[in-house]
Amino acid sequence: MTSGPITTQIHHDILVVTSNNPPVNALGLAVRRGLVAAIEEAEGNDAVKAVVIRCEGQTFFAGADVSEFGTPKAFEQMLPTVVDIIENCTKPVVAAIHGTALGGGLEVALASHYRVADKTAKFGVPEVKLGILPGAGGTQRLPRVAGVPLALEMATTGKMIGAKEASEAGLIDRIVEGDLLQHAVAMAEEVKDIRPLPKSSEKQDKVSGVDPSVFADFRKANARKFRGFDAPEANIQCIEAATAKPYAEGVQVERAKFMELMSGLQARAQQYFFFAERKAAKIDGIPEDTRPRTIAKVGVIGAGTMGGGISMNFLSAGIPVTIFEMNQEALDRGTGIMRKNYEATAAKGRMSADQVEQAMGLLTPTLDFAALADCDLIIEAVFEQMEIKKDIFTRLDATVKQGAILASNTSYLNIDEIAAVTKRPEDVVGLHFFSPANVMKLLEVVRGAKTAPDVLVTAMLLAKKIKKVAVVAGVCHGFIGNRMLMPRQVEATKLLLEGATPEQVDRVHVEFGMPMGPFQMADLAGVDIGWHRDPTRIENIRDALAAEGRWGQKKQAGFYDYDDKRRPSPSPRVQEIIDDFRAKSGVEKRDISDEEIVQRTLYTMVNEGAKILEEGMAQRASDIDVVWVYGYGWPVYRGGPMFWADSEGLQKIVDGLEAQESRMGSDFTFSKLLLDKAGNNEKFTR
Ligand code: 3HC
Repeated sequence: MTSGPITTQIHHDILVVTSNNPPVNALGLAVRRGLVAAIEEAEGNDAVKAVVIRCEGQTFFAGADVSEFGTPKAFEQMLPTVVDIIENCTKPVVAAIHGTALGGGLEVALASHYRVADKTAKFGVPEVKLGILPGAGGTQRLPRVAGVPLALEMATTGKMIGAKEASEAGLIDRIVEGDLLQHAVAMAEEVKDIRPLPKSSEKQDKVSGVDPSVFADFRKANARKFRGFDAPEANIQCIEAATAKPYAEGVQVERAKFMELMSGLQARAQQYFFFAERKAAKIDGIPEDTRPRTIAKVGVIGAGTMGGGISMNFLSAGIPVTIFEMNQEALDRGTGIMRKNYEATAAKGRMSADQVEQAMGLLTPTLDFAALADCDLIIEAVFEQMEIKKDIFTRLDATVKQGAILASNTSYLNIDEIAAVTKRPEDVVGLHFFSPANVMKLLEVVRGAKTAPDVLVTAMLLAKKIKKVAVVAGVCHGFIGNRMLMPRQVEATKLLLEGATPEQVDRVHVEFGMPMGPFQMADLAGVDIGWHRDPTRIENIRDALAAEGRWGQKKQAGFYDYDDKRRPSPSPRVQEIIDDFRAKSGVEKRDISDEEIVQRTLYTMVNEGAKILEEGMAQRASDIDVVWVYGYGWPVYRGGPMFWADSEGLQKIVDGLEAQESRMGSDFTFSKLLLDKAGNNEKFTR
C-alpha cells in the first residue's frame, strides 16, 4: 500500500510500514493518515501477524509538523487518535528507531508495543521548547514507561537522552547495531504470538505510590530555570496527573493543558522562534550552489578571555587550533585558563578526562606569527583598537596562505576598514563571538562590502559545526546586538539622573524576563570597559564610578555594593554620585514609573532594531530576535524584541516613544520603518 509518504510491504508475515517524509519525517497530516491506513491494513489482513514502523532518511519521526500548528490540517486525523489506534492494534507493533525520536515521534514509539533502537538513536520530548507539552499521550505514557523523575526532566527541559540511558530507563526494549530493519523484523517475529500486548498506557508500577513531594521538590529545584515560562509547569502538572489519576483522566488533563498552552502567546512566540533560528542560517543574495571552503586548521590571535574561549569551540569540535600571543607569560596564562575551564567541565561530569586531553592535544600555542601561515581560518581577538587590528591584518595578509579566511572578532569596529588594509578584502569577515565565547551560542557573522559568498557560507556552516547559532549582520557600529544595547544604556543612565534608581531599572528588566538589567550587566561585564582611563575626566555617572575604582563585581563595587559572595546591595555612594550629577546638570528629580522605564529602554531598542532593518544591516526581523535571545538572554517566550513589538502592537510602541520623545531629546530619532509599519498596521515578523 502507498498512502502519501507512507508505504507498506509484507516481509513474510510482518507488515513493514515505512515513512518517507524528508527532511525529518515530521508527523504531518499525510503521514498521520498513512499510519492509520497501515494499521487498518494490518488489521484487515490475516496473513499479517505483526507490524514494524520505521522511517527512511536521517531520522525516525522528529515530532509533529510544527508548520501545521494553527492551520486546519492540525485538527484532522489528530495525533492523539493516531497513537491510540497504534496502541490498540490487535497485532504487535514494533517501532524501529534511528536518528532522533522526538515529541510526537517518541509518542508514536511509546504507543507501539515494542521499541528497537539503533545504538546511536536519541530520544526526547522537546515540546516545552515550543511552549507546549507532549500532547499525544506523551505526558501519561512517558512516566509510565520511563519513570517519573526522568519524565519530569525530559518534559520540562526538552533534553535528549541516548539509547543506553533510554534502555536503562525501560524506554526501549532492545539496542541494536547494523541493519535496523532486519533486527526489528526479527523482534516482530519473536513477539508476534505473545498476548496480552504490552501497552504503555496500562503500565502502573512506575506511577503508583509516587510521593507528591517529588513534584514540589522538582519545582523548587528548578524555580529559577523555569521563571516566566508557562510550559514547564503545565508539563509537571500533567505528569503529576499521571501519578494521581487513571490513564483516561490523565489524558484529559493533558489535552486541556495542551490546548491552553497552544492558544497562548508564549507558544506562538516559541514556535516563531523555532523557525527564526533556522531561517537565520540562510544568507540572502548568494547563489545556491556556493561551495564552502575547507577549514581543517584554525588560527587564533590573542590568548585572552575571548581568544581562549573562541579556541575552545574549535578544539571541542575536533578542529586543531594554533593560538598566537606576544609573550610567553600571556600565552601560558591563556592556555592555562583553557585547561582549567575544560577540567571544570569534566569535574561536573560533562566531559571525560580523556576528552579534556584530546581537546588540549589539538592546541598549538605559539609566539611565532609565521606559525599561522598554513591555517585555513584565522580569527583575530585582540584589543578593540582600529590601529592594532589594521596592523594585524597587514601582517596576516603578508603571512597567511592564499584562500584562507581572515576574521576579526571585533564587537564594534568597521570590518571594511580592516579589510581595506589587505589585498584580499573578499577573504575578510567579522566573526563576533559573545563572552564567554565557549559558552554563549550566538555568533554574529559580519558581512563586509567585499566579503566573498563562499566565505559567508563557510562561516555559517562552521558555526553549526561548533554548535553556535549564526546570524548575518552588516557593517555598522556595534552590528545588531551591541548597536541595540546603546540606546538602552543611554536612556537607562539618563533615567538615573531623572530619579530612577539602578535597582528599579534592573528590576523592571528582570520582571520582563531578562536575566539581568542594564546596571547588573554593567557590573558583571566591568564598568571600566570602554573607559578612557583618565580619573580626572568625569563627564557622566559611569566615568565617576570608574574613577573611584567602582569597576563592578570584580572590585566588589560598581552600580551596586557586593559582599564576599558577590551578593549585591544598593549603594549609598552611587546614590550620592547620582545626586551630585543631578544637582550639577540641573535635572529635576521626579518619580519614574515602571512603564516609562519600559518605553525608554525597551521601546528604544525596538526603534533601533527597526533602523537596523531599514538600513539592511539585518537580513530579516527574526534575525534580530535570534541575536537578542541567544546573545543577551531576551526571554524566548516573548520571541525577541521585534516579535514582542509586533505582539504589543507597533502603534503602541510609537505612542509610547512619542510620549517620551521630549525627554529623550537629541539622543532619539524615530525609525521611518517603524512609523510606516505602525501607520499601515503591519508587523515586522509574520
Ligand atoms: N516540524 C516541521 N519542520 C521541522 C520539524 C518539525 N517538527 N523539525 C525540523 N523541521 C524542519 C526545519 O525547520 C528545517 O527546515 P528548513 O530546512 O526549511 O530550514 C529542517 O526540518 C531541518 O531541521 P534542522 O535544520 O533543525 O535539522 P537538524 O538536522 O539540525 O536537526 C532535528 C534535526 C533534531 C530533528 C531538529 O530539527 C529538531 O529538533 N526538530 C524539532 C523537533 C521537535 O520539536 N519536535 C516536537 C514537535 S511538537 C510535537 O511533536 C507535538 C506533539 O506532542 C503533539
